[in-house]
Amino acid sequence: MLLKEYLEKGKNLVENGIGEYLSELKYPEVIAQGMSYAVLNGGKRLRPILLFMTLDILNCNPEKGIATASAIEMIHSYSLVHDDLPALDNDDYRRGKLTTHKKFGEAEGILIGDALLTHAFYVLTEKNKHLSAEKIVEIVRLTSEYAGINGMIGGQMVDIASEGKAIDVDTLRYMHTNKTGKLLKLPVESACIIGDASEQEKQSLIRYSELVGLAFQIKDDILDIEGDFETIGKPVGSDAEHHKSTYPVILGLEESKKLLHETVEEAKSILIKQFGEEKSMLLVELAEYIEKRNK
Ligand code: IPE
Ligand code: IPE
Ligand code: MG
Ligand code: MG
Ligand code: MG
Repeated sequence: MLLKEYLEKGKNLVENGIGEYLSELKYPEVIAQGMSYAVLNGGKRLRPILLFMTLDILNCNPEKGIATASAIEMIHSYSLVHDDLPALDNDDYRRGKLTTHKKFGEAEGILIGDALLTHAFYVLTEKNKHLSAEKIVEIVRLTSEYAGINGMIGGQMVDIASEGKAIDVDTLRYMHTNKTGKLLKLPVESACIIGDASEQEKQSLIRYSELVGLAFQIKDDILDIEGDFETIGKPVGSDAEHHKSTYPVILGLEESKKLLHETVEEAKSILIKQFGEEKSMLLVELAEYIEKRNK
């Protein structure tokens, strides 16, 4: 299957799951509507797609991962809702539409984000009954670790604290590894649990996801400079406006592109070494897509 077809298929699979889970929520209306607005609004669904592709490479049916992929996408979407708030990046557009707090109000935006985060754990436990209790607990443990202080929140705090400062490359790497990397590692590691990966398969897949996660945020920083608003659906130049410490600021644009390319090449080779070229094809193409994407 071509990457383009897979991206479409994965997007449909997870959006059907999320749509069903969110349709159960009714009251208070503004929270229920805001949750759907924040999640079902044209994201690329890369984290769910990583989860499905990892299940495929492990010869496990991707349908077994729908609830977990949906929960991860809810957490990712909540992180975007809060990232856009006035106290953080103060952005007005996301995925080509008004940000959630612009649409529903700031207090509502905070609560909608909180509701998405907590509901994700409901989905992980309530909608995963086809998995063993041990597997569910392990996925919940990983999710709470990677979304919190030792993950996305840790990275976001360093991002905010580094505004207007000259930080070193190690701090920058910590920031990227955590604010973005952990939520890209999570679907791959969760799929390893669902799909019973061997220890060796798991180590290769995790390393691949760490590299892809780093590459993903380097590219995001580059798109904040070189992207086109119509295509990326969020403001261009937001990082410069907020004096963010990014790879292009610390290393320069050309050096950042070189590092992006090397990171993607390393991710590809780790996978090919473990699974062979044919089996690795989709995840290899996904890594290439992350380097070349324009949105
Ligand atoms: C944007 O993530 C925020 C980062 C972590 C860099 P995505 O680029 O995956 O956003 P959507 O989900 O496609 O909108
Ligand atoms: C945010 O990084 C990553 C999150 C944890 C939400 P950015 O602030 O660069 O993400 P965008 O560019 O607003 O999507
Ligand atoms: Mg931010
Ligand atoms: Mg932002
Ligand atoms: Mg950005």
